[in-house]
Amino acid sequence: MCGIVGYIGHRNCFPILIKGLKRVEYRGYDSVGLALLSRDSFEVFKKVGKVNELEGEISNLSSNSCLGIAHTRWATHGGITEENAHPHVDCSKGIAIVHNGIIENCNELKEELILKGHTFLSETDSEIIAHILEEEYKSNKDYIKATLNTVSKLKGSFALLAVIKDLELIIGARLDSPLTIGIGKDEYFVSSDILSFIEYTDDVIFLNNREVCFIKRDSLTLMNFDGSEIKRDIVKVAKELSDLSNKVFEHYTLKEIHEQTQVVRLALLQDEKRFKTFLEGIKRAKKIYFTGCGTSYHACVLATYLLAKFPKLTSEALIASEFDSIFELIDKDTLLIAISQSGETADLLSCVREAKAKGAKVFALVNNVNSSLVREVDLFLPLNCGPEVGVAATKSFIAQLALLYLISLSLKGDNSMIKELYNLSNSIEEVLKLEEDIKRLALKYKDSKDFYFIGRALHYPIALEGALKLKELSYIHAEGLAAGELKHGPLALISDGTPTLAINPSDETYQRTLNNASEMKARGAKIIGLSDENNSLYDDFIKIPKVMEVFYPIIEVIPLQLLAYYVTLQRKLNPDYPRNLAKSVTVP
Ligand code: F6R
Repeated sequence: MCGIVGYIGHRNCFPILIKGLKRVEYRGYDSVGLALLSRDSFEVFKKVGKVNELEGEISNLSSNSCLGIAHTRWATHGGITEENAHPHVDCSKGIAIVHNGIIENCNELKEELILKGHTFLSETDSEIIAHILEEEYKSNKDYIKATLNTVSKLKGSFALLAVIKDLELIIGARLDSPLTIGIGKDEYFVSSDILSFIEYTDDVIFLNNREVCFIKRDSLTLMNFDGSEIKRDIVKVAKELSDLSNKVFEHYTLKEIHEQTQVVRLALLQDEKRFKTFLEGIKRAKKIYFTGCGTSYHACVLATYLLAKFPKLTSEALIASEFDSIFELIDKDTLLIAISQSGETADLLSCVREAKAKGAKVFALVNNVNSSLVREVDLFLPLNCGPEVGVAATKSFIAQLALLYLISLSLKGDNSMIKELYNLSNSIEEVLKLEEDIKRLALKYKDSKDFYFIGRALHYPIALEGALKLKELSYIHAEGLAAGELKHGPLALISDGTPTLAINPSDETYQRTLNNASEMKARGAKIIGLSDENNSLYDDFIKIPKVMEVFYPIIEVIPLQLLAYYVTLQRKLNPDYPRNLAKSVTVP
C-alpha cells in the first residue's frame, strides 16, 4: 500500500507534495515524509502520523525547492516509527527513495550490503533500495545504468521514486504497484494515483509493469527494465475527478454516504455497446465466478443470488485471496468477473492474472477507470461513482449493487423492473432522513462489546457488510450471520443485552427472519429491527421506505453505514482513518 508523490518543475514543490500526499493518504497513514532537493540543500523530513501533522510542523519552511518526493506509509516491514518512515536515504545521505510495495528478497540483499559496509537505519525492506542505488551509482556514475541494475535485483512488487543529490531529476520504477506521471508545462508530477495532481494537469502517462522513468524539468524518458527506450502516448483523464471538496460534511465518509442519492443513477449510465458485449460474455460462459475483497466481495455474494434469481444462471463467489484453491477449475470456458472500487487490490490482480493465464475471459466492475485492473481485463464496466476517499467503502458498494441488478435484470429482459431500479434514488433520499434516529441508536449502543447482524437470502450479504462497516470504523466486534445458521452455533454467543440487528423487510424472508430474531430475544438479545414493517418483537426499530421487494438490499445498507459512522463518532474515533487499515490494499 503506501502512497508516493513527486514533483519537478518551476514551482515551490512543498505545497504541491503536501496536497498530493493528502490525496493518497487513503493508501496508508501510519507515517509521512518528504525529501526536498534544491541547488544548495537536500533535506528529509519525516514524522509518525498524518500528513497534516507534518505539514503543521514544517509549514514555516521557506523552501525554494522545485524538486521533491514524498510518501505516506502503511506499515508492512517494521513498526510505525520515525526511522521506518520514508524517504529512506543511503549511507552517504545523497540519495533518497520512497517505495510502495514489498521487496521479497530484502533479507538476502541486506546481508550482501552489510558485508559491503552499508549501515541500515530502519527495519524496512524499502531502505535497501537506497543502498543498492548508492552502490550502483558509485561504481559507474551513470544514473540510468544504476537504476536498471537496481531494479533488476529487486523481487516482489514496487513503485518507487528516487532522487540523487547532485542530479536534477526524479527516477521512477514500477513492478505491480501503480505509478502515473502527470505532464504540465515545464513540470512533471508523479504519483501512485492521478488524484494527487489532477487539478494541475489532466495529461498523463501510465507507467506499465517493468518500466522505469527519468523525469527532468524539460524531458521525460521511459524505458523497459532491459534498457530499451519506450514511446508512450499521453492520455487525457477526466477532470471531474478533481471534485474532492469535503466542505459541507465533517468527514469524507459522511459525504460519500450522502452522495448515494446520485450513485444508482450514475452507475446505470453505461455505454450501450460495451454493456451489450458484457451481457453476451456472460451468456456465452459455461462457468461464471465472481471475485473481490472485503466490501466488493459482499457485492460478489449478492451477484450470485441475483444471477440465480433473474436470468437463472449458476455462479460462484470467492474471496480473491482464496481463489487459488479452485484454480484447477479455471479454463477457457470460464468467465471471471472481478469487482473492485480501486482496481488496485493486489489479491484481486493476481487472481485476474492467473485466470487469464489459464485462458479464462476476465471482466470487471470497477470505479477507478485508470487502474491496473482496467488495463488487465478483457472488458470492464465503470461504477461511475466518483473518487471514494473515506477508507470504508460506502458509495462504491451501492454502485456495485446497482450495476449488478442492471446486469441481472437485463439478462432476464425485465424492463419494468429496470425502470423501478432507476427510481430508487427517491427512496435513498428518504433513508438518509433517518440520520437523527440512527444518531440516537448510536448513542444507545456505542459501548457494546459485540454486535450481530442477521439476514436471509439477499439480505445475508448486507448483514456481512453491516458488520464489516461497524467493526472497521468503530472497532466493536461485529459479525454478519445468515439468520438460519444461528442455531448451528452462533446462538451460544448471545447473552443479556447483546445487540442484534435483524435485516427484515417485508419480503419472502420476513417471517423466518422474525422467528430467528425471536429465538435470539428469548436468550437475552436486544433486537433492532430494520424493516418497512414494525413488530412488537423489536426493542428498537429503523423504518425504511417500501420499495419493490428485490431492491431492499440497496436501501437497507445505508442505515447500517450511518450506524457505523455515528457509533464511531460517539467513540471519539475518526471514521475517515480507521486504525491499521488503508483504502487500497496493494500488497498481497
Ligand atoms: C471495507 C473496504 C475494504 C475494500 C477491499 C476491496 O470498507 O473498503 O474491505 O472493500 O479492500 O477494495 P477494492 O474494492 O478497492 O478492491
